[in-house]
Amino acid sequence: MIDLLIHDAAELLTGPTDGTLKPIEDGAVAIDDGTIVAAGKNEAVTEAYPPASATQTIDASGQTLAPGFVDSHTHALFGGDRSDEFAAKLEGTSYQEIADDGGGILRTVRATRSASDDVLLDRLRATLDTMVAHGTTTVEIKSGYGLDVETELRMLSLIERAGETHPVDVIPTFMGAHAVPEDESTSTYVDQVVTEQLPAVEAQGIAQFCDVFCEDGVFDVAQSRRILSAGIDHGLTPKIHAEEFVHLGGAALAAEIGATSADHLLKATDDDRTALIEAAVTPVLLPGTAFTLDAAYADARAFLDAGGSVALATDFNPNCHSPSMPMTVALGCVGMRMTPLESMTAATVWGARALDLTETGVGTIQQGAPADLVVLDGPTHVHVPYSFGVNPVATVVKDGAVVVQ
Ligand code: NIG
Ligand code: FE
Repeated sequence: MIDLLIHDAAELLTGPTDGTLKPIEDGAVAIDDGTIVAAGKNEAVTEAYPPASATQTIDASGQTLAPGFVDSHTHALFGGDRSDEFAAKLEGTSYQEIADDGGGILRTVRATRSASDDVLLDRLRATLDTMVAHGTTTVEIKSGYGLDVETELRMLSLIERAGETHPVDVIPTFMGAHAVPEDESTSTYVDQVVTEQLPAVEAQGIAQFCDVFCEDGVFDVAQSRRILSAGIDHGLTPKIHAEEFVHLGGAALAAEIGATSADHLLKATDDDRTALIEAAVTPVLLPGTAFTLDAAYADARAFLDAGGSVALATDFNPNCHSPSMPMTVALGCVGMRMTPLESMTAATVWGARALDLTETGVGTIQQGAPADLVVLDGPTHVHVPYSFGVNPVATVVKDGAVVVQ
């Protein structure tokens, strides 16, 4: 007996951990003990594992079977509300002007510091519920709305707790270097991140990655290098917010220190792209951020046409308030001219790569991989971006269990 058989899917997106997902018509997947034991043509899979041999079966006729989405960049834990800033931006105020006025990240820092653990945790759990309902089975969540030792550790601990009590896998990232706190100089704060926050984060033992907002007016390249290098010394793998509003050199730094990913990259140059591809740094592109800021999208085509690959993620945060990976896939296609297959691959296989999960098989549908998958309405994956703005997810399987139906 096996635990679950999903059969008669109009299309199955199967594929290796590297490269592009492959659509095959008439697919099925057999699952046992949380793992995919067979994936491929319906006929072959159901011959090896007939429906009568499965404890549970799902008929996916007319639907598409895809890997669960891997959302590799979010700031999903925060207090407060910034919807009024969205309205102000529509009237012409820029993200930086709002930040210079004490709004933006620093406003969310005040709201997060003053919110109770229960309030923050309930809200994060509700966000994870929305994410899994939209097909996300693995999500990275950054700290960075604390900006002091106590609140940064509190955020990481809440991120861990939310993950422990929710089917979605949660990967915690330390981002004490997300902004400079009010009334503090940048150099004093960088010292604090390096000498106080990072040792405490290592001792706490929750965070896996260290991220820095390398940006004009936030942390420059030298400061980012110092923080990420110290992060490596404390056992944290580097990631970086690079080339978002101005071109500063964060992408080159990512290549130099061997970061797992460089994220945003709206202002990346050809030299940056070459350096990232050569250093095998995964570019994480965040089309929702460009969409909501009405900014020019990152040049995904330039990466893809140069032989590189990209991950797509939501960047869910108070500035970019959509936790939907299907919407992100649609924006990847329409905003960045990725094909639907490239966009789906970027939201799964390459999202996993941006989180160093490639070896585990997360983000793929193949024998031996964890059984994280989604049944999508529509007979092909093209229906995900084609039907933008609605939720195409019919069923979600996480570690072999049906968690959304
Ligand atoms: O990735 N760019 C910096 N950090 C976030 C925004 C966070 C916020 O505005 O609260 C981002 O878009
Ligand atoms: Fe971000």
